[in-house]
Amino acid sequence: MTDKELLSLAVNAMKKSYSPYSNCKVGAALLCKNGKVFTGTNVENASFSPTVCAERVAVFKAVSEGETEFSGIAVVGGKDGKINGIFAPCGVCRQVLREFCDDDFPIILGESENDFKKVTLKELLPLSFSPDNVR
Ligand code: THU
Repeated sequence: MTDKELLSLAVNAMKKSYSPYSNCKVGAALLCKNGKVFTGTNVENASFSPTVCAERVAVFKAVSEGETEFSGIAVVGGKDGKINGIFAPCGVCRQVLREFCDDDFPIILGESENDFKKVTLKELLPLSFSPDNVR
């Protein structure tokens, strides 16, 4: 699976966004070390706080199917589904990724349907609090 292929799975997932309140559509595609991919999209709620981000939907889908070893994630989003530069994972999603992924975990941030910036989890979450801290 190439980075571009993972990005296009995130773009497809974005199209399923349930976001009637913010109109921000977000898609994520999480690649497992065994090659499986779990996608996610943001799911909003009239009560606002139950809203869940695309990245966490992808992670929780994977974990609930028994997958906890990941080799990368692609994230893409934009207001009204128009990709206009990166839509970086929020702080909560960064912390959720850190639960399962090391500092060097690659994150593909879609800048358009075909272009992306590739960063590591450490770049997005330096000096992280990790499971090692509580072992
Ligand atoms: N959102 C995500 O899906 N992922 C992020 O990392 C940032 C925010 C969603 C949540 C909400 O539905 C909308 O974007 C606006 O905050």
